[in-house]
Amino acid sequence: MQSNFLTRRSFVSNTAAIAAGTIVAPAFVRAQTLRQELHVACVGVNGMGWSDLSSVGKHAKVKFVGFCDIDQNRFNLADQAYPGTPHFADYREMLTELGDQVDAVIVSTPDHMHAPIAMMAMKNGKHVYCQKPLTHTVWESRQMRLLAQQKNLTTQMGNQIHSAAPYRLGVQLIRKGTIGKVKEVHSWVGVHGQQYSVRKDRPNPAAVPNHVHWDLWLGAAPERPFSPDVYHPFKWRDWQDFGSGALGDFGCHLLDPVFGALDLTSPLSVVAEHGGTNLELWPGPETVTYTFPGTSRTAGETIRVTWRDGGLQPPI
Ligand SMILES: NC(=O)c1ccc[n+]([C@@H]2O[C@H](COP(=O)([O-])OP(=O)(O)OC[C@H]3O[C@@H](n4cnc5c(N)ncnc54)[C@H](O)[C@@H]3O)[C@@H](O)[C@H]2O)c1
Repeated sequence: MQSNFLTRRSFVSNTAAIAAGTIVAPAFVRAQTLRQELHVACVGVNGMGWSDLSSVGKHAKVKFVGFCDIDQNRFNLADQAYPGTPHFADYREMLTELGDQVDAVIVSTPDHMHAPIAMMAMKNGKHVYCQKPLTHTVWESRQMRLLAQQKNLTTQMGNQIHSAAPYRLGVQLIRKGTIGKVKEVHSWVGVHGQQYSVRKDRPNPAAVPNHVHWDLWLGAAPERPFSPDVYHPFKWRDWQDFGSGALGDFGCHLLDPVFGALDLTSPLSVVAEHGGTNLELWPGPETVTYTFPGTSRTAGETIRVTWRDGGLQPPI
C-alpha cells in the first residue's frame, strides 16, 4: 500500500487527472444509507494529527480505513491505537485506492497542504475536518467554502477551543451587555513569526532521510531542498511558503471569540507594523491594527481591534 516517491511533475499531472473526476459519488449518502459506522481516513497522523484522530476515534461509530503520512516514522502512535489500518504516503493514492470506503477525511498536515487535500476530498464527496488555519490563503478558504456548499458536505475547522466553556462564557457575557458597549479590543500572543528559526535565510541542502517523502511534504509549495530540523516536523510554521506566522497560527483561536462576541464583519482598514522580515520568514514581533464597522455591541461607528505578538502587549 505504501506509495512510491513521486516527482514534482507526476504530482502535478496526477492531481490534474484526479481533479478531472475519477471518483465523484457523494459519500455522505452512502454513509447514511449503507453503513452503520463512519469510515474515516486521516492525512497527517502525528503531532496535531494524532490529537485529532485519537479524539475522533473515541466515538463508537468511527472506523479508521486509512492513515496517510509522508514520514514513515510517524505512524507509530496511530498504529499502536488502531493496528492494521492501511498506510499511505500520498493522500491522492489513499483517496483513489480507498474510493467509496471513505466517508470523511481529517486533514492535519502543515498549512500549505490543507486546501489541496481538503479540496480533493470534497470533490470526491467526503466530509472534511480540517485543521486551523483553514488554508494558507484567503482565496483557498473561499474556494473550500464554495465547494462544501455545492456538495452539501459537513465540514469543520479544527479550532476546538471555540467549544470551550471559558470562550463561550466570555462571548455570552459580552453579548448580554455585561461590560456595556465595547470601545476597543486588544488581543496578543507570546510567539512570533520567527520563533523556531535559528537562521533568517535558506539553510544548506541536506540528504533526505529514507523515511521522509520530501516531495510529498512540499506538495503544492515551490520546490526547495530538504534540511533537517528546519521545516519538518513543526518548524515549517515560520516559513512563508508553508506556515502562516504567529497571526495565522493563533489569530484563528484568539480572535474567534472577538468576532463571536461583537458580530464583526470585514475590516475597513488594516495597518501592520513589524520588527523585521524578509521574503522567506514571517515577521518577528508585530502589531496589526484592524478597523471594523461598528455593530450593535460596539460603542462607536467603528471599532479598533489591535493584534500583537512576539512579546508585545497592550499598554496597561
Ligand atoms: N487546533 C489546534 O489547537 C492545533 C494545534 C497544533 C497544530 N494545529 C494545526 O495542525 C496542523 C499540523 O500541525 P503539526 O504541528 O502537527 O505539524 P507537523 O509538522 O507535526 O505535521 C503533522 C503530521 O503531518 C505529516 N505530514 C506533513 N505533510 C503531510 C502530507 N502532505 N501528507 C500527509 N502527512 C503529512 C507529518 O509527517 C506529521 O506526522 C497545522 O495546520 C497546525 O496549524 C492545530
